[in-house]
Amino acid sequence: EKNGYEHFMLKEIHEQPRSIKDSMRGRIYPLDGRVELGGLKEYAEKLKNIKRIIIVSCGTSWHAGLIAEYLFEKYARIPVEVEYASEFRYRNPIIDKSDLVIAISQSGETADTLAALSIAGLKGATLFGVCNVVGSSIPRMTHAGVYTHAGPEIGVASTKAFTSQVTVLTLMALYVAQQRDVLSKQKMQELLTELEKLPDLVETTLKCEDNVKKIAGIIKNANNCIFLGRGSAFPVALEGALKLKEISYIHAEGYPAAEMKHGPIALIDEQMPVVFIATNHSSYEKVISNIQEVKARKGMVISVISEGDLKVKAMSDHTIEIPVTNELLLPVLASIPLQLLAYHIAVMRNCNVDQPRNLAKSVTVE
Ligand code: M6R
Repeated sequence: EKNGYEHFMLKEIHEQPRSIKDSMRGRIYPLDGRVELGGLKEYAEKLKNIKRIIIVSCGTSWHAGLIAEYLFEKYARIPVEVEYASEFRYRNPIIDKSDLVIAISQSGETADTLAALSIAGLKGATLFGVCNVVGSSIPRMTHAGVYTHAGPEIGVASTKAFTSQVTVLTLMALYVAQQRDVLSKQKMQELLTELEKLPDLVETTLKCEDNVKKIAGIIKNANNCIFLGRGSAFPVALEGALKLKEISYIHAEGYPAAEMKHGPIALIDEQMPVVFIATNHSSYEKVISNIQEVKARKGMVISVISEGDLKVKAMSDHTIEIPVTNELLLPVLASIPLQLLAYHIAVMRNCNVDQPRNLAKSVTVE
């Protein structure tokens, strides 16, 4: 049941230190610098010759796919395309035997994702699944796959399933890198040592809840909200916006921070909360200029920052701190405060958090 929490969503948000640990259990060996994914073992050799990865999914799982694109390209140096399953399937997609198609799905039953997979299968691609529900349709129709092991997710808004998808996809990116021998052992050891800390860092990040709740109280009556990030934090911004739309019914958009000046900046005024993911990583200075652009137009800036960053704090109206870490862990850690923000705003607006209007947990119709 809800374990004393008011909603399943809140329970599932707080379960993340454990669900992420379960997603990694028995799969990483930091001292040896190795990743073991039992479900992919038979295809380990084949991964050496794959020319391209195509990811198909919907909604939040599509956002996990976009994050995976950054990870696969950065660590495994293999080209990746991320497709909405519903678009891919009707396009007579150009794929062949040298492609690997990965379907990401919490339920393993999403109709469009299933259809996209079967088309890719007919064209001879290798099919992998990243699913949460054991024995669901997608794991049954793929050649191989990795379960996320996040445990049952009841809230319609995906939270722990998403962070487990990102965790497993991170492992897959490193696994593919290992099979293709593109990372040194030392680099693997370093990355896996960081990854092992993720459950504890998620636990620390969850301590931002009281602060996030205060910010929720300040922006709860907004009609619109913008989320901005760069690099792997861009899909995190998309996910933050989807979460807010889905459960609080506030119109929200996520953008790559630099795209703002190509249109959305026209929306900025005193009424517009703009949530930045502005941690101390690769595009730090660039994000800072984007914050200044929003402040110059009197937008209200809420920044997710690396702990102790006084510079971004000084230029933001409100800040939420997350632990200082390797960029590899950024997508999961930065998602946590955005989940909490959407949750608390929805509660304050008296919305049905676990069962938002017009939505079903699993979309088995086209
Ligand atoms: O079960 P799936 O992961 O295939 O579901 C895909 C989407 O329907 C799902 O992620 C949806 O967007 C969530 N309600 C988002 O919170």
